[in-house]
Amino acid sequence: MRVRLPPGAPFHLIPIYPTPFFFFVLKYLTVMKKRIVVALTGASGLKLGDYFLRKIEKNKDFFEKAFVIVSKNAKFVAESEGFNLDFDFYKKHFELLDENDFASPVASGSYPLDGMVVIPCSMSSLSSIATGVGLNLIHRAADVCLKEKRKLILVPRETPLSPIHLENMHKLSLAGAVIAPFIPSFYNKPQSVEDVLDFFSIRIFDLLGITLKDKRRWRIDE
Ligand SMILES: Cc1cc2nc3c(=O)[nH]c(=O)nc-3n(C[C@H](O)[C@H](O)[C@H](O)COP(=O)(O)O)c2cc1C
Repeated sequence: MRVRLPPGAPFHLIPIYPTPFFFFVLKYLTVMKKRIVVALTGASGLKLGDYFLRKIEKNKDFFEKAFVIVSKNAKFVAESEGFNLDFDFYKKHFELLDENDFASPVASGSYPLDGMVVIPCSMSSLSSIATGVGLNLIHRAADVCLKEKRKLILVPRETPLSPIHLENMHKLSLAGAVIAPFIPSFYNKPQSVEDVLDFFSIRIFDLLGITLKDKRRWRIDE
């Protein structure tokens, strides 16, 4: 296999360029493993947050570490909707943090984190993050992401939205957060609720900078 090198390339490395080892290193360098926080808050549809965590576990090679924080209200809302959050699964595969543990690594900007996803994000948590009150570890970790200019993806779930909700989202968007409401797409022709959750989870992976192979992407085969 012939490889054309750009000017200035380290020519002494030529012998390893076309080897499988080279492509392995290239892949590793282009997809650096992520350290992230995933928070589940008390909005409807906790199944989505749970599904997203399972998707992370299935694709664990992309992650160095995933912390999980579940708010007290998330637990209550899930139970109210007849869905039990599987804390045994979370403890087994992730580092589960207490929402009041302000001494945890993710409460400090000096901990090297790549980003955070709040999924689903209640209007209460959204407003706390927008105002920077830092009442619990979820708000604090999100605040840290904003101040350190790290990726913060918020998946709000409420309808309809009041001007207060919209103003908070606008403020957060200006501060650098990505507002990604849970709105299903239909061009991928979902056949089940799982399909909807899966495709949405893949879009959140995209936002984290992790591109999973998926045939349902728009015109991917053309
Ligand atoms: C069954 C149920 C469903 C709820 N659904 C939503 C929702 O979809 N969006 C929302 O913003 N709040 C919703 N709430 C209200 C939040 O749970 C409440 O504001 C809570 O304080 C959120 O706390 P947290 O953000 O710390 O988890 C719901 C509450 C209950 C009991």
